[in-house]
Amino acid sequence: MVNLEELDGVGPAIAEKLRSAGYDSVESLAVATTGELMEAADVGMRVAVKVINAAREAANMGYERATEVMERRRNMGRITTGSSTLDKIIGGGVETQGVTEVFGEFGSGKSQIAHQLCVNVQLLPEQGGLNGKAVYIDTENTFRPERVTQMAMAMGVDPQKVLDNIYVARAHTTDHQMLLAEKVADIAKKEGVKLLVVDSVTSLFRTEYCGRGALAERQQKLGRHIATLHKLAELNDLAVFVTNQVQARPDVFFGDPTKPVGGHVLGHAVTARLYLRKSKANTRTAYLVDHPGLPPESATFQITEAGIRG
Ligand code: GTP
Ligand code: MG
Repeated sequence: MVNLEELDGVGPAIAEKLRSAGYDSVESLAVATTGELMEAADVGMRVAVKVINAAREAANMGYERATEVMERRRNMGRITTGSSTLDKIIGGGVETQGVTEVFGEFGSGKSQIAHQLCVNVQLLPEQGGLNGKAVYIDTENTFRPERVTQMAMAMGVDPQKVLDNIYVARAHTTDHQMLLAEKVADIAKKEGVKLLVVDSVTSLFRTEYCGRGALAERQQKLGRHIATLHKLAELNDLAVFVTNQVQARPDVFFGDPTKPVGGHVLGHAVTARLYLRKSKANTRTAYLVDHPGLPPESATFQITEAGIRG
């Protein structure tokens, strides 16, 4: 690891400013944008550009060989959802270094999968986990420790330990939600966080920015939030799992009259996108939509007392 002070153009004073703004590694500077750095660390444009370029060089973040890309992807971890059929359509579980989105109507199982992942991420790799901790950003007050306890017991792991390894924060505004996400960078490596859940990623944006006039601003801000989540996933080799609602589509008369909130900003930014639909009783169907490397397939799973199964 290179120290900030070793970068060209960074003296102790600037290093201090950068650290207090949350840029504590060369990697975090290498993926920052000029505007972001100017604002957060209160430095001028020339300094920002110089520092970012120096960081990129030091972090070696230009081109890399395909073999290196392959190596990084080989290290990519996966968390089992609890359902082998669901795992299969997403390539073996929810992957680290990326953002996975599930969308679907109320009661389709989005939060249930999120809870299950918080338990499963703590399992050993041979059990489908990553031996890591979880962070749950809750915007709708749906996190239920009792449900986690139930799922942990069903997996034969100590519920107390499992609860201890989940950090929960309730977000009240979009600004708060964005700040909470940024804060994960401070604890991710130190605490061994391997999963970040944002449930739901769009609901606050939807209530704060309502009406046509606010749409552009909302989309821009949502885009920035998703970019933060991506950075977290890539820099810390952790899995980001976000939930999203559906909204009515007034222009569709045949077929499915709903679509995910957030439109293209979200759709193009996430790594894997799952659409959940209710079928009979506790059975759900998941459809993989828009995945860069996997065919569009569907899987059926169950929500049982023990958790996600099937
Ligand atoms: P919204 O957040 O409202 O958009 O929905 P969601 O997609 O997050 O739904 P959620 O994951 O909360 O799923 C709720 C459904 O899970 C319930 O309707 C039940 O069918 C099922 N469920 C929740 N808890 C239990 C449980 O303890 N046992 C069983 N068998 N099913 C449960
Ligand atoms: Mg929910």
